[in-house]
Amino acid sequence: MADLHSVYLGLRLRNPLIISSSGLTDQVSKIKKLEECGAGAVVLKSLFEEQILHEAGKMMDQTDYPGAEDYLKVYARNHSVSEYLRLIEDAKKETRIPVIASINCVSTSEWIDFARNIEQAGADALELNIFYLPLQTGKSSADYEAIYLDLASRVKETISIPLAVKLGQHFTHPAGMVEKLYHRGIKGVVLFNRFYEPDIDLEHMHFKAADVFSTPSELSHTLRWVGIISSLVEKIDVAASTGVHTSEGVLKMILAGAKAVMMCSAIYKNGPEYIRKVISEVNQWLDKNNIKRIEELRGRLSYGSLENPAAYERAQFMKYFSALH
Ligand SMILES: Cc1cc2nc3c(=O)[nH]c(=O)nc-3n(C[C@H](O)[C@H](O)[C@H](O)COP(=O)(O)O)c2cc1C
Repeated sequence: MADLHSVYLGLRLRNPLIISSSGLTDQVSKIKKLEECGAGAVVLKSLFEEQILHEAGKMMDQTDYPGAEDYLKVYARNHSVSEYLRLIEDAKKETRIPVIASINCVSTSEWIDFARNIEQAGADALELNIFYLPLQTGKSSADYEAIYLDLASRVKETISIPLAVKLGQHFTHPAGMVEKLYHRGIKGVVLFNRFYEPDIDLEHMHFKAADVFSTPSELSHTLRWVGIISSLVEKIDVAASTGVHTSEGVLKMILAGAKAVMMCSAIYKNGPEYIRKVISEVNQWLDKNNIKRIEELRGRLSYGSLENPAAYERAQFMKYFSALH
């Protein structure tokens, strides 16, 4: 069996598979089960501070976008700060895998103090799940990006455990954004968060939630940016998230340059025991290819390692059209 040890955010993981921030990680009993089934680490369910919710409410009052408010409310339910801190303490006491806490941020308000409490409770690292809906047409993209950067800097000033920022998929210049985060002391980025999205029920003509789970077809978008950003901003750790449903997905992300690979939807759908299958298949594949350490694989097919990196850059279908006609 190959050595699967990986280092992410300076934390030593027994394997690179991390269970993403979600309802899968909101109780110690669940975290213990994930550890027993072989998870390399967990990111706890995000903490949504009251202030954030309040501000989100105000933000939503000015818009006609009820979906986003519902999303925040669902996340916030039953998660008071003290409960959250207890979850960190208990998870640290009762498991041995790294425990990464997560805060959902929408503004630079007093909640930053909670980051200090999270550090004191013993979290090994903190992931910032930043969600900011750009609704003010008078503002520029740079104005919105400045909010992310300011948040990251302020938390970095507050605590000394490693910090990761979990980004959404829709930045104009993701690599530039990650480079800026790196210069603010951020150790890792999670590419990408997959937010609640709206849908419309045509039969009853009302607004509803789109499918909350990803599909394996979403892997490609993640793969492109993991490959590119792990090459262009080499010093930051990249964790892949969204669309990884199988052991093949894990291996592809490592080949593209990911330090860690996160899974959420696949575990919701298949249960925690599925982790054993994924890890065992990763091992089988490495054995079959005579690879002794997963580290040997990392970044072998990243943007920077390819002789012809155009494969990562290609976005238009011209070639396919000519082949199909
Ligand atoms: C039910 C559910 C709850 C989630 N809660 C959170 C959360 O609290 N914080 C967060 O950063 N991401 C949250 N996410 C997003 C996941 O962590 C993950 O980034 C996303 O589902 C994409 O990964 P996947 O393709 O493996 O599902 C949630 C996702 C789901 C499906």
